[in-house]
Amino acid sequence: MAKEIVLSGIRSTGNLHLGNYYGALSKFVRMQNDFDCMFFIADLHALTTHPDPLTLHTNVKSILAEYLAAGIDPEKATIFVQSDVPEISELYLLLNMHVGIGELMRTASFKDKARKALGITTGSSNNDDEDIERQIIGNESNKRVNAGLLTYPTLMAVDILIQKAHKVPVGKDQEQHLELTRRFARRFNSYYGVDLFPEPVNFDFGGAPVKVPGLDGSGKMGKSEGNCIYLIDEEKVLRKKVMRAVTDEGPKEPGSPLSQPIANLFSLLELTSTPEVVKQFRDAYADCSIRYGDLKKQLAEDILKVTTPIRERINEYINDEAYLGRVVRQGAERARERASKTLSEVREIMGIRKF
Ligand code: ADP
Ligand code: TRP
Repeated sequence: MAKEIVLSGIRSTGNLHLGNYYGALSKFVRMQNDFDCMFFIADLHALTTHPDPLTLHTNVKSILAEYLAAGIDPEKATIFVQSDVPEISELYLLLNMHVGIGELMRTASFKDKARKALGITTGSSNNDDEDIERQIIGNESNKRVNAGLLTYPTLMAVDILIQKAHKVPVGKDQEQHLELTRRFARRFNSYYGVDLFPEPVNFDFGGAPVKVPGLDGSGKMGKSEGNCIYLIDEEKVLRKKVMRAVTDEGPKEPGSPLSQPIANLFSLLELTSTPEVVKQFRDAYADCSIRYGDLKKQLAEDILKVTTPIRERINEYINDEAYLGRVVRQGAERARERASKTLSEVREIMGIRKF
């Protein structure tokens, strides 16, 4: 029986951090033995925030090296760069004809990014939403919300649908985009009375999708949050970041609930340490004997066990341009094979025919 198709990608907007690793990359590595996997670098998606043209390629290269260093094997999985598959851009145009501006504007990630582009710093509320809409339409300053940001979910849906992927391993923050992808697939299939696109689902090995917290006490580790531990961080830098993590004044009485910053440290410990170590610190918290300095030291040690071998391999791959080139050329060939077949089917279904 043919293996199910798995597809996922990460935008080339900088180095990968622990959130990317536990939310996406480590799952990619585990899946490559059991599924027909395709992992790509979303460089077109990265264009929505106007990266410096000189650094765009550097970022693509570093993510590629990070994929390989984390253990994605180009002989088992297809690794490719999004912009090497021009069929994606054409299908993006075609699918956009079936996507509503309203549903795109209601997407949480769009509102978030639009807020950033307009320089609005307030949190989200309904009033705020109306304010954003008014500003998007009426804005006459040089602050613009580009159409690429609005149609970001269409492009992501196309990445998935063009490969007819069944499973899409992504973090919790991407669930809404996946929901839209399923909706667009259903809509296309039913509008044309075809059964072309499967409806893709998120994938996690049991359990709920992970959300890796930041070191600043915030809910999520993220590039734009400035609270990341990068896979490429040198030992000293990494230790320093962990030792500086936000804490509180400590448990006041036995059985006190965890504050957000401490809960975050425990979440990170759960991801990187053994259950025995986690239990030891949980017990120490419960009976108020915990010393946050010890907790952080342990955490830094355990994170380093995960990241050090990866960092060493990243540094090897990044200097091997010839190998990186071979990997993406082979990947593009494989990705284009399936993509061009789907695109021809869509053109035919929509009535675009050759003379
Ligand atoms: P960032 O939020 O740092 O810009 P991306 O949006 O490029 O990261 O995310 C790439 C992948 O990593 C996605 O699948 C996303 O769900 C996952 N991811 C990013 N940050 C986290 C996090 N803190 N916890 C879990 N998964 C995450
Ligand atoms: N939007 C995803 C992110 O920000 C990246 C992405 C683009 C993606 N296309 C995709 C993920 C297709 C999975 C499948 O992380």
